Amino acid sequence: MTSERLLEEAKKARKKSYSPYSHFAVGAALLTADGDLFTGCNVENASYGATCCAERVALFSAIAAGKTDFRALAVVGGKAGKEPVELCPPCGICRQALSEFCPAEMPVYLCDREGLKAFRFGELLPLTFSTKQLENED
Ligand code: THU
Repeated sequence: MTSERLLEEAKKARKKSYSPYSHFAVGAALLTADGDLFTGCNVENASYGATCCAERVALFSAIAAGKTDFRALAVVGGKAGKEPVELCPPCGICRQALSEFCPAEMPVYLCDREGLKAFRFGELLPLTFSTKQLENED
């Protein structure tokens, strides 16, 4: 799947955003190693802390479907009902959640008023916290 197509899927998912509190709509599309696509939108709540970001909705849907191997992510966000103006990079919590499964070289496609911009996941979250080191201990 092309980067442009993945971005289109994120834009499509963004239309489903439930964001009556922030009026900030986000969509995410996650591509698996076997070519499946999982999308998500942000889902807000009157108890604001119960809100879940679009990226984690997509990630957790994929995990629940048994997919743990990812190849690319696209995220689009901005004022609900408007075209995206600024890049909407994943928040810190989503970066940490994604880091459990996504390799540093995985492309992350974002979009601003000029169009698509490509990053690597490792650029977004360098020096990642992990407990994988414990696997090597006795
Ligand atoms: N949001 C996301 O969906 N993804 C991000 O990476 C950043 C923030 C959502 C959460 C909330 O519904 C709205 O954007 C404003 O913070």
